[in-house]
Amino acid sequence: MGSAVTSNTLIALPGDEALAESLAGGLDAAIAALEYRRFPDGESYLRIHDSLQETTAVLVARLDRPDPKIPALLFAADLARDLGASAVGLAAPYLPYMRQDIRFQPGEALTSASFARWVSRHFDWLVTVDPHLHRYAGLNEIYSVPAVAVSAAPALAEWIFTNVEKPVIIGPDVESSQWVEAVAARHGLPWRVMHKQRFGDREVRIAVPDLSALEGHTPVLLDDIVSSGATLARAAEALSDAGMASPVCAVVHGLFSESCRETLKAVGVRRLVCTDSVQAPEAGIVLAPLLTPAIERMSDCAAGRR
Ligand code: R5P
Repeated sequence: MGSAVTSNTLIALPGDEALAESLAGGLDAAIAALEYRRFPDGESYLRIHDSLQETTAVLVARLDRPDPKIPALLFAADLARDLGASAVGLAAPYLPYMRQDIRFQPGEALTSASFARWVSRHFDWLVTVDPHLHRYAGLNEIYSVPAVAVSAAPALAEWIFTNVEKPVIIGPDVESSQWVEAVAARHGLPWRVMHKQRFGDREVRIAVPDLSALEGHTPVLLDDIVSSGATLARAAEALSDAGMASPVCAVVHGLFSESCRETLKAVGVRRLVCTDSVQAPEAGIVLAPLLTPAIERMSDCAAGRR
């Protein structure tokens, strides 16, 4: 790869303008406004008034609840290329469809791979944060363009260290141990990992490891995603059964499906925080400082390849 440096122009999907502004500050990048509306028949209208000649266009998109956003995303990528962008990248702090990474039942759609093919066809590179890599070893198993997964662990660790007294980091399932170990290691905190079995979208059972040495600690349940809240709720109940204090919950991606917050309140979760990969009142952990260096690197590498 060469060492060419390119100028970047950020283009936000509707609703993500503030995120694009904060990324542009860290990148010294321009912003191009995307005009987006729907025709009376529901089809999309898109227009970009600014020139994109000689620039890398970076689409900035929070892709939680993705289905209404996907056509606009793909149309905008094509439009940026039509308008002369020399490369088109995607900065999507939450990467959707990664949980459909296996056919759990015969005949099910492997939507993680389909979505990856769509993105790889329309974009030259991808930057995201902690994608749900449980059965894939890396994004390159399904994405055919360069794809970087930024870790939110430093930001989560900082928030926990600053806001929680005497924390012990606890993962609700084996898969969460990658975040648990990384966060705990940054400040030398104790950690444990529980064992989870899932029986349906909202039904999970959790087994607790030995917590006897952790009296007086504040449990921090740490996971990559909260969706229905079932995982964190059952984990909080298991902690209470084991005599621990009510937990703080810290997650990377707060998807908050319907009744999630009520579910967590009902089991006495004392505080809930997530990153701003998704817009939510609980999104107290800002990702921009972690995203900008990755975007800059991908953009420069893509320019070097041309
Ligand atoms: C599962 O593998 C993930 O890491 C999360 O534990 C899960 O997605 C959380 O979902 P829910 O809040 O619906 O239990």
